[in-house]
Amino acid sequence: MSNDYLSEMFGLSGKVALVAGASSGIGAAFAVALAKAGADVVLGARRTDRIEALAAQITEETGRKALAVALDVTDAGTVKAAFDSAEATLGTPTVVCNNAGIAVPNWALDDSEDDWDRTMNTNLKGMWRVGTEAARRMLAAGKPGSILNTASILGLGNAPQQLTYATSKAGVVQMSKAMALEWQRHGIRVNALCPGYFVTEINDVFLETDLGQKMLRRSPAKRAGKLEELIPAMLMFASSASSFTTGTALPVDGAHSVAIA
Ligand SMILES: NC(=O)c1ccc[n+]([C@@H]2O[C@H](COP(=O)([O-])OP(=O)(O)OC[C@H]3O[C@@H](n4cnc5c(N)ncnc54)[C@H](OP(=O)(O)O)[C@@H]3O)[C@@H](O)[C@H]2O)c1
Repeated sequence: MSNDYLSEMFGLSGKVALVAGASSGIGAAFAVALAKAGADVVLGARRTDRIEALAAQITEETGRKALAVALDVTDAGTVKAAFDSAEATLGTPTVVCNNAGIAVPNWALDDSEDDWDRTMNTNLKGMWRVGTEAARRMLAAGKPGSILNTASILGLGNAPQQLTYATSKAGVVQMSKAMALEWQRHGIRVNALCPGYFVTEINDVFLETDLGQKMLRRSPAKRAGKLEELIPAMLMFASSASSFTTGTALPVDGAHSVAIA
């Protein structure tokens, strides 16, 4: 098996990829990996200092073009502006990692309307804003593409203190399937990636607690995933390797989501 064989299947040369929520954790790792696979990348987030630094690092390390754009997925104006900048500078993104998300863990009866609204507006409606804008741009450009929504195993199963988060991620799974169904005829694939626990800024404090450590020890793999263990699934969805794969929700979780005890 030659490298040419793998590059042809999984390579992203000549593609423009956009990562929403690229300033830390999973999104930052995705942006680096997409560039290593040959794509020019657009990095979107609110913390522009971080994405500007990461864009410079990506260009230096991979030689790919990288553009940092201010993006708040709760604000439709910035979503449109981010795609405008991307198209003007690098071209229409045809690989879109729709990844921005927050978690506001609370016992169900302690959740406020504000907790609910913030979580849904970012995790579900934010991904809807970015996903629909991405598809409109691909359609206008007459280009097929791939949208990968970062859901969670909490979109498939559940855990204490996760009512709003898990509900938002279950919505992301269904939304991905609805988008896949309607956009297949345009050559736009949409899938949901369902990570288990990976240590990032969204959960590092929780995972250090006794409860977090106990939860990891009881999981089938008895550990959190490493970010590099999430990259191959992302590259499969991003590339033509998955040209007939759409409307799926893939757990990458060391069997966490299938354990019943
Ligand atoms: N880590 C895990 O175990 C795990 C498991 C399953 C699913 N996930 C999902 O994976 C995704 C990435 O999370 P992570 O673990 O990498 O956590 P993270 O390090 O906290 O990253 C979250 C990213 O989302 C961005 N973001 C949040 N609100 C945003 C907004 N309004 N507009 C634009 N960007 C926004 C953040 O950027 P700014 O704050 O700079 O805007 C940051 O880049 C999330 O959707 C999360 O729910 C994570």
